[in-house]
Amino acid sequence: MKDFLSTKNMTKDEILGLLDTAEAFRELSRRDVKKAPTLKGKTVLNVFFENSTRTRTSFELAAKRLSADAVNFTASNSSTQKGETLIDTIQNLEAMQSDIMIVRHSCSGSVHFIAENTKSAVINAGDGLNEHPTQAMLDLMTIKRAKHEFEGLTATIMGDITHSRVARSNIWAMKTLGMKVKLFGPPTVLPNDMSPFGCHVCSNIEEAIEDSDVVMALRIQRERQGKLLIPSVREYSAFFGLSPKHLQIMKKDALIMHPGPINRGVEISSYMADHPQSVILDQVENGVAIRMALLCMVKKEG
Ligand code: CP
Repeated sequence: MKDFLSTKNMTKDEILGLLDTAEAFRELSRRDVKKAPTLKGKTVLNVFFENSTRTRTSFELAAKRLSADAVNFTASNSSTQKGETLIDTIQNLEAMQSDIMIVRHSCSGSVHFIAENTKSAVINAGDGLNEHPTQAMLDLMTIKRAKHEFEGLTATIMGDITHSRVARSNIWAMKTLGMKVKLFGPPTVLPNDMSPFGCHVCSNIEEAIEDSDVVMALRIQRERQGKLLIPSVREYSAFFGLSPKHLQIMKKDALIMHPGPINRGVEISSYMADHPQSVILDQVENGVAIRMALLCMVKKEG
């Protein structure tokens, strides 16, 4: 396929196939020599209009481990600052004969727009509050490695659901795989209409986490909120944050997850983030493997 933009229309077989491919690349990344010739001669551009640590670094590592030439474009020190438009930027990058563009942008839908206007393969690295599909795939790989099956598992996603592209991509994919998804957060950061998600909305944290196999805490997306939509960080932490007292309610084998970056002491305490049940750094390791698999999957047009 040319692009990877969304989890919404992925089939169960497509998701499981991608996770299987990523397993092989995870193994390669643990070797002394972390290199395969698969993308030798290909040019991969990381085109980031928003900040990133995990996604950009792991895509760069993924491309280099597959022997591609990887170049980072960062909007904040580019000619975007001189007024160059999005489409001109993309067409100029394409003129350099890029094969794959990894794009992150603050506007929902912008990465789809870019994909329609370039022959390069495009991978969505996060578009506004719409989707972050590669994050969902690495989250699912982490769950599969710990739980082996998806059918019958319950996941709780808690926090700023309205502004979370991670939540959206995970909800679509988890439901495709037969998981039950529960959502929890302050009403001010839950969408007015929750019906499109088809998820159970919990009214308190106990209900949200008591029977869940996966508890995923989300960061408050202040950069997308305009004004802060919670009364105070202290209150948010007290009523909506994951803390040690919740271990008494949670399943003993529940996975504690977070896409990062973590705001320690806000949506999750340090104790919970660093707890043996936390798989947060496994998520990061699996991110490189998933992105290697995706780089092999997409293909430039023509
Ligand atoms: N999870 C995630 O997308 O992290 P970054 O913003 O650091 O890429």
